[in-house]
Amino acid sequence: MKPLNKDLDKKKNIIEKYNSTSSFYDNRYSKIQKEKYKILFRNCNLNYKTILDAGCGTGLLIEYVFNINIDNIKKKVKYVGIDISWKMLMNFCDKSKKIKDSEDINLILGDIENLPLRQESFNVIFSITSLQNLPVIKKGLGEFIRVGQKDSLLKLSILRKQLKVDDLIAYLKTNTLNLKTEFLENIEDVIIQGSLNKKNIIEENI
Ligand SMILES: C[S@@+](CC[C@H](N)C(=O)[O-])C[C@H]1O[C@@H](n2cnc3c(N)ncnc32)[C@H](O)[C@@H]1O
Repeated sequence: MKPLNKDLDKKKNIIEKYNSTSSFYDNRYSKIQKEKYKILFRNCNLNYKTILDAGCGTGLLIEYVFNINIDNIKKKVKYVGIDISWKMLMNFCDKSKKIKDSEDINLILGDIENLPLRQESFNVIFSITSLQNLPVIKKGLGEFIRVGQKDSLLKLSILRKQLKVDDLIAYLKTNTLNLKTEFLENIEDVIIQGSLNKKNIIEENI
């Protein structure tokens, strides 16, 4: 087991990194992040869904949801964004003021590995280019499984560099249905989509 201090130091560095780059994050990454959203939103109906955006950053995803003009993506959603960097969240706050229906948007300063959220609260969980920052990615995935409802959609994009993809897929396979993994040439992430198989999890715990 890794010492706790090492994990804490890693998290402190991540917070500092994103706090100090938040002001130019959108300019630098908005285009590539939107390419990922396009893939994650294929055949995705968000109508009346409660969405968790884990590692929400400056809110590029919610901006995309509210700007997008596709019939099957309706604007009636409840959205919770969580991020460990308060400066990224402050940028998100400024952005959300311009969004109509912003009363359905809630932001939390917190850690994906220890989500301050009740179990079975969400039916769509996004985490886009955030999980690679965690000391223990499976801990974050375990949290998604806990807070997701039965059949929740899981929509992940994770930076491939140094990632043990096979290991993650094996873990997710036992907890999801219809798992689909995509590696695209122009995108440095692996895109993983599926739905939670809570039945398995409940049976495993009996
Ligand atoms: C590359 S940015 C992606 C932001 C956003 N998902 C997007 O699509 O633009 C990674 C984000 O993950 C956040 N993050 C990193 N580790 C985290 C953790 N343990 N808990 C919550 N957020 C975390 C960072 O603060 C940063 O905002």
